[in-house]
Amino acid sequence: MTSSMQAASALPNDRAVPKAPVRTGDVALHVERLHKRYEGIEAVAGLSFDIRAGEVFGLLGPNGAGKTTTISIVSTLLRATSGDAKVFGHSVHNDVASVRHLIGVVPQELALYPELTGLENLRFFGRMYGVPKDELERRIVRLLELVGLEGRRNDRVVTFSGGMKRRLNLAVSMVHQPKLILLDEPTVGVDPHSRENIFTIVEQLRDAGTAILYTTHYMEEAERLCNRLGIMDEGKIIALGSLDSLLAEAGCSEVIELHGLPAGMDLTSLHLGEHSCRIETRDDVVRLYVNNAVRMLGPLHQALGRYADTVSVEIAPMRLENLFLQLTGKDLRD
Ligand SMILES: Nc1ncnc2c1ncn2[C@@H]1O[C@H](COP(=O)(O)OP(=O)(O)O)[C@@H](O)[C@H]1O
Ligand SMILES: [Mg+2]
Repeated sequence: MTSSMQAASALPNDRAVPKAPVRTGDVALHVERLHKRYEGIEAVAGLSFDIRAGEVFGLLGPNGAGKTTTISIVSTLLRATSGDAKVFGHSVHNDVASVRHLIGVVPQELALYPELTGLENLRFFGRMYGVPKDELERRIVRLLELVGLEGRRNDRVVTFSGGMKRRLNLAVSMVHQPKLILLDEPTVGVDPHSRENIFTIVEQLRDAGTAILYTTHYMEEAERLCNRLGIMDEGKIIALGSLDSLLAEAGCSEVIELHGLPAGMDLTSLHLGEHSCRIETRDDVVRLYVNNAVRMLGPLHQALGRYADTVSVEIAPMRLENLFLQLTGKDLRD
């Protein structure tokens, strides 16, 4: 059994559930100057952010950025070295029972009983949270349908694929109707069908007013799902905001990508003028970050000279992956 399941087993019954109604826009999670130090490393190094009801907040970062550590602290499984996180005003330090009732967690390492069936897992966790019996059975039917596992309800989880396990864990995380759901890299190692199912559910939850903390190192997921993003590296959030605002802050709107440049050809002297931000060379690909790609094509053609016909030139809008690389020097596609 995983540590998260052991911790969850210690839950009290329904008594501690805060009854105040949640409105879209209420602060669901307030993280303030959170630190977690291990010997020799600061896994979380002064993190602050808010998530509101009805919002998907993405923590985007490479392996080791501190995403799982942050989720573990918010889900009360790990104690911060300093700082605090509050779930609808309840501190993860001194109001653990309330926090656990308000949150649902899909951990990176799944928390399911492999020898129980899908149905039995849902029943177990539902009872643990004190969901009344008849209501629980109704919810289980709906949840199994939602995650597309009604046909496998009586099969043991050990026989499930990675994607099915992840979908079941998502259903389990929702059985007590939490107001904040924490999803730690939920699409790693899952099939495309499961991935799409997870996306749809996240969108439905968001539209119903649930707050979602979604960690990922996949840029397209962050672009598609997240209302706001925190770009995380080495325990810190280094950029925070909506995708549009982050891209606007980058100062350039398009990327010209050049493939097949002859070895040794140096474009750094290219006069990029007012429409450009910078040039980056990586793995034989040269990228020009610019504001008006069309205006750059003339000077570029000239600079390429006799190679103009052999070099391939692609123009694309600035994307999150470009911004991430610019901010961290790290390419998450590696
Ligand atoms: N129990 C631990 N003891 C020591 N270092 C740890 C422990 N857990 C995580 N770390 C380190 O903390 C950093 C952040 O890890 P983690 O939160 O798992 O990152 P992510 O989820 O973004 O990949 C990494 O350098 C990791 O090696
Ligand atoms: Mg992780």
